[in-house]
Amino acid sequence: MSGLEVSAVAKHFGGVYAVRDVSLSVADGELRGIIGPNGAGKSTLFNVISGHLAADEGAISLDGRRIERLPPHQRAGLGVSIVFQAARIFRGMTVGENVMVGAHRTTSAGFTAAALRLPAHRRDERRIAAAAHAALEMTGLSEFADRDAGTLPHGLQRSMQLARALCAEPSLLLLDEPASGLRAAEREDLIELLRKLRDTGLTIMLVEHDVALVGRLADRITVLDLGAVIAEGTPGQIRDHPQVIAAYLGAAP
Ligand SMILES: Nc1ncnc2c1ncn2[C@@H]1O[C@H](COP(=O)(O)OP(=O)(O)OP(=O)(O)O)[C@@H](O)[C@H]1O
Ligand SMILES: [Mg+2]
Repeated sequence: MSGLEVSAVAKHFGGVYAVRDVSLSVADGELRGIIGPNGAGKSTLFNVISGHLAADEGAISLDGRRIERLPPHQRAGLGVSIVFQAARIFRGMTVGENVMVGAHRTTSAGFTAAALRLPAHRRDERRIAAAAHAALEMTGLSEFADRDAGTLPHGLQRSMQLARALCAEPSLLLLDEPASGLRAAEREDLIELLRKLRDTGLTIMLVEHDVALVGRLADRITVLDLGAVIAEGTPGQIRDHPQVIAAYLGAAP
C-alpha cells in the first residue's frame, strides 16, 4: 500500500479535540489541498503526521509502514517534511546554512559522527551540500545563499522555509499556509514551483486559506471543520458543496 493513510486520528489538548476521527488517504504523487476555518485543526493534523505532536488515537501509515509512534526525525528519514505555518529562521546564519538544517535530521551518521568528524559524517556533509544546492536552485534562492537569513524580505524567507524542507529530499511534503503574506507575483511563482514539484512525483499536502489558489493546484481537497473532515472531493465538487459553503466559505475572512 503506497501513499499516506491516516485512520481515525485524534488529538486533544486538555480535553478539547483539535482533531477528531480524521481519516484520509493521499496517493503517491497527489497534491491534496486541506482547507477549513481558523482553528479547524489543519496545523494540528500536519503536526500529528510529521510527528511534532503525538496522536492520541488512530493510525498513520506511509507506504504501508506504521509511523504514528515514530519521533519526527525518523519520520523525516522516511520522507516526511513539513514547512510550519510560522517561519523558523536561524538569524545570524546564512540562507544556505538555514537550508542545510533541513537535511541534518535525516542523516545516518548522526551527532557523534559529526562531532568526531568521522568519514560517514563527511559523506553526509557532501550529500547535504548537494541537496542544499539543488533546493536553493529550485526555489530561486541560489544568489542569496551566502546572505544572513535574517535580512531576507518576507517572500524570500517563505521560499527559504520551502528550500529547507526540500533539502531533506522528501517524498511527502506538508506545506502549512506557504502563500501567507506573499504578494500576487510571489504567489504565482509559488504556484509554478508547486506544479514543478508535483511533476517530479512528490506527494504534497497544502494547507491554504486562499481557496482559489488551492483550487488551481489540488487534485483533491479535504475540508476540516471543528477538527473533523466535513467534505472531500475535487476542487469543483468542493466549491459546490453546501456544507462547505456554510461552514467555511461563509465564515471566511
Ligand atoms: N498547543 C496547543 N495547546 C492548546 N490548544 C491548541 C494547541 N494547538 C492548537 N490548539 C487548539 O486546537 C484547535 C485547532 O488548532 P489548529 O492550529 O490546528 O487550527 P488551524 O486549522 O491550523 O487554524 P489556523 O487556520 O488559524 O491556522 C484550536 O482550537 C486551537 O486553539
Ligand atoms: Mg494553522
